[in-house]
This record gives sequence, structure tokens and C-alpha cells, in this order.
Amino acid sequence: MLKKRPIIMDVDTGVDDTLSLLLVAAAENLDLKAVTTVFGNCAVDVTTPNTLKILELYGMDVPVAAGAYRPVIDPPIDYSIAPMVDIHGRDGLGNVGDRLPAPTKQPVNMTAVDLMAKAIKECDEKMTIVATGPLTNIAHFLLAYPDLHEKVECIAFMGGAAFGGNMGFSVEANIGHDPDAAQIVFMSDVPKYMFGLDATMACFITDDERQALADNGGETGKFLQACLQQYSDIYKALGGLPGAVLHDSLPVAWLLDETVVELAHCHVEVELKGVKTRGCTVTDLRGYSKKPANTYVAMKADREKLIGMHIEAVKKFN
Ligand code: RIB
Ligand code: CA
Repeated sequence: MLKKRPIIMDVDTGVDDTLSLLLVAAAENLDLKAVTTVFGNCAVDVTTPNTLKILELYGMDVPVAAGAYRPVIDPPIDYSIAPMVDIHGRDGLGNVGDRLPAPTKQPVNMTAVDLMAKAIKECDEKMTIVATGPLTNIAHFLLAYPDLHEKVECIAFMGGAAFGGNMGFSVEANIGHDPDAAQIVFMSDVPKYMFGLDATMACFITDDERQALADNGGETGKFLQACLQQYSDIYKALGGLPGAVLHDSLPVAWLLDETVVELAHCHVEVELKGVKTRGCTVTDLRGYSKKPANTYVAMKADREKLIGMHIEAVKKFN
């Protein structure tokens, strides 16, 4: 029998989170044990029902717990003026979320951190945690459950960048939304894999490839094509790219096929004090700091392989 890798997804669903969950839904070698939600693209009281809706769209029945509504130290985001709503839509799903039925399930009556701990304790093997939003829940979990660190296989997260940013000129959004949480994660003893902008910015999906999702994925594929529309228009207009960037799919794709990325192993810390750089993932690619490597950093991605995985995955829903 195929050995499945147990995973927890921690998400701020989100257009590209929706596409990463598609890869999980279709993966034969992943065993999704729980999903936790966090603020990020939208407030957590939006990302949680979005997550429930998307899991139901994909026919996945797993416990979902609502997580952090704010960063560990910084004040909560004011979503009435936050720019993310222009990118992911006011509803976080490209303004087409109302095409899906309201979720029939509720989140479990447990914190995200406690659901993570429960899933990890109940699992015979080590757990992989994939995070595609701010690292707030993960930081809270690591602080609350030090005894469980050794049962975490790794934390594979979308966030950060060795070079550049998308929130400030040197800050990526998931890290920038909670730099203190991210630093707690980087300083932890758990193995870390960072899938940041250095690799993810290559992972755009063209209009033709979006059409292929619609053509191969029944109603689910058509929904995904529509969900990506506004997000795609914005990447074309602001980023000068041929389409939407599927940042959050990369850590999941790596679990399915390691050759989808090239990794460097180095020391990474989060700048916490900079006036313009708070939230920058300072990445010591040349070993200048002489500090031990603490993170595998994705520096390159195979875009065509990644998009091909989505087109294969959506066929499950045809
Ligand atoms: O910087 C890209 C990240 O920010 C993605 O996780 C996207 O969903 C947004 O949260
Ligand atoms: Ca995300």
C-alpha cells in the first residue's frame, strides 16, 4: 500500500491558498490530518469559512480550527484599508466566492494550536506542517508545545525572500504580516523549508493554462479559473507578468516532487527593527555570518512542472 505523508495545512485562504489545497486534494501520497486558519489575505473570520468552502468543493472532510486573528505583537490589520483585498478580492476568493454554497461544516471547538497538537499526538509518524499564511499559529504552537517539536518532520512554508519583497521592497507579505512570529519559527529547532519569492515569483499561470483548468476540471476547474481572474489581472497590471502567481502551491508541490525546486541551505533570520525592512528575511547565502544553517531556502522553481501538477490535479474533478 502507498505510504502517505501526514500533513497539517495552516492557511489564510486566499486565491493561491485555494490552488495549493487543490494539490493536496488530488495527492495520493499526502494524508491531510487537519487544517488551521489564520488572518492574512483577509480577516480570520473570512479565511475560515473560505477554507471550509474550498475543502467542501474538493470533497475533503478534515477538522478545521480557526486560528490567530492578529499578529503576536503588532496591532491587528485594518482590513477596511488593507491592499490585500484588491489582490484576493473582498471575499478572499477573487470576488467569486459566492458562486460556491455556504459551508455545511463548522470549525471544531478548539484553538488552531490545540488542533495541531492533537493531530500530532494522535499520529504514529512525524507530522509535516505546511503554512501558506503568516506564521502566527505556528509560532504559538511551537511556544505552547515544546515537547512536540521532535514530532514535527518539518515546517514547509510560503513566505520570505532572500531578495526583494512584495509588501515593502524587501519584505514578503506572509512574513511582513507577523515578523515576530516568523522569527520565533526561524529560531526554533524544527527543520524549516522556506518557499519564498525567489522561487515563487516564477510560478505564474498563463490565461491558456487557466483555461486548461476549466477545460479539465468540470465545475471545480471553472470555479478555479474564475477565482484566479482578478488576481491574474492584478499580477499582469502591477507585476508585468503573464498571469497570476501561485505562491502557495510551491511547498505542497515540493512534497509531491522534490525536483520542482532548487534549495540552498543557509542561516535565515527576520529583521525586526528596520524602519523600512522590518519583516525582511535576512538570508545568509554566502555563509558570511558563520552561523549554522537553519533553513532550506527555495531559490528556483520549475514553473512548467508546477503548473502541470495543477492541470493533472484538477482532472480528479472532471
Ligand atoms: O506573498 C505571497 C503570500 O501572501 C501568499 O501566501 C498569498 O496567499 C499571500 O498571503
Ligand atoms: Ca496565503
